[in-house]
Amino acid sequence: MTNKRIRKAVIPVAGLGTRFLPATKSQPKEMLPVVDKPAIQYIVEEAVASGIESILIVTGRNKRAMEDHFDKSFELETILAEKGKTGLLEIVRSVSGMADIHYIRQKDALGLGHAILQARAFVGDEPFAVLLGDDIIQADEPFLRSMMEAYHREPASIVAVQPVPRKDVDKYGIVMPKAAGPAPQDQPYFEISSLVEKPRVAEAPSSLAVIGRYILEPTIFDVLERIPFGAGGELQLTDALQQLSGMSRLIAMPITGVRHDIGDKFGYIRANIEFALEREELKQDLRSYLRSLVQQIHTMDSASQAAPTVQGKRVRVRKTGRV
Ligand code: UTP
Repeated sequence: MTNKRIRKAVIPVAGLGTRFLPATKSQPKEMLPVVDKPAIQYIVEEAVASGIESILIVTGRNKRAMEDHFDKSFELETILAEKGKTGLLEIVRSVSGMADIHYIRQKDALGLGHAILQARAFVGDEPFAVLLGDDIIQADEPFLRSMMEAYHREPASIVAVQPVPRKDVDKYGIVMPKAAGPAPQDQPYFEISSLVEKPRVAEAPSSLAVIGRYILEPTIFDVLERIPFGAGGELQLTDALQQLSGMSRLIAMPITGVRHDIGDKFGYIRANIEFALEREELKQDLRSYLRSLVQQIHTMDSASQAAPTVQGKRVRVRKTGRV
């Protein structure tokens, strides 16, 4: 086990984003804007605010959009400068100067574990952070920083977890806490004995799901090289972590803040609303719009409850009085 400072982060963004087609046919989901910033920018900002010095983005198809976003944009900067739009110029410049970002390509989308394996040469023999490009954590303090601090107290691989409804456990990697006792999500972090990818509801060892933040010891690369491809024909990071849990200590850390899965349509819409509600220039208009929308929904709901039924089915009464 190494106990070094965490300086590097890996952000895999090479998945196919099938849940968000057709929007993701020609652009990665991580470039979808949440209010006015692409999702990937929130992730890079969290990494930088946590003290990460160097970032590797594992890209797949459509790599250009992402590279261009974090690159200098001479034409745009010149035009903004000529027009005296200093505020916008500042925003554009701050994006390209945000971090030391490197790119590598995962040629085939063979799973998250395979994407992480592409980072081996970049990471070397150091513990490192992984932030999934489609999981935004909205919190006052960057959550990755809390994980990095926990690593310095407890030098072991750490996965972020979140309680999910029992019926949804089959969509996630689920952890089994080592110790019996009080609900572990109330503790800042706790040891786990195993993980299982997308278990059946009846077989899930808990309702604590692994979400998109990890601190990994570099031994994970040896494990990833060794294990066979798993569920869905993909090299699964969860399988590698499961192996790791048999070899060394593995910690789970419940997230603080709100996690938005922007690769999911509902998650994406919710993220836009929640982030817009935090923006001074938008929040008043959005709040009054949401208030009137809620009122309309109430009216529609009570109208449909009061509607007459024909053979047990609700029918809509038209203004003319005909059914
Ligand atoms: P997901 O399973 O959420 O992404 O992977 P996906 O496969 O793109 O999504 P759907 O289910 O088809 O809609 C979590 C993260 O891992 C990356 C994704 O880009 C995402 O950020 N990933 C996944 C890779 O980089 N490579 C892969 O082969 C698979």
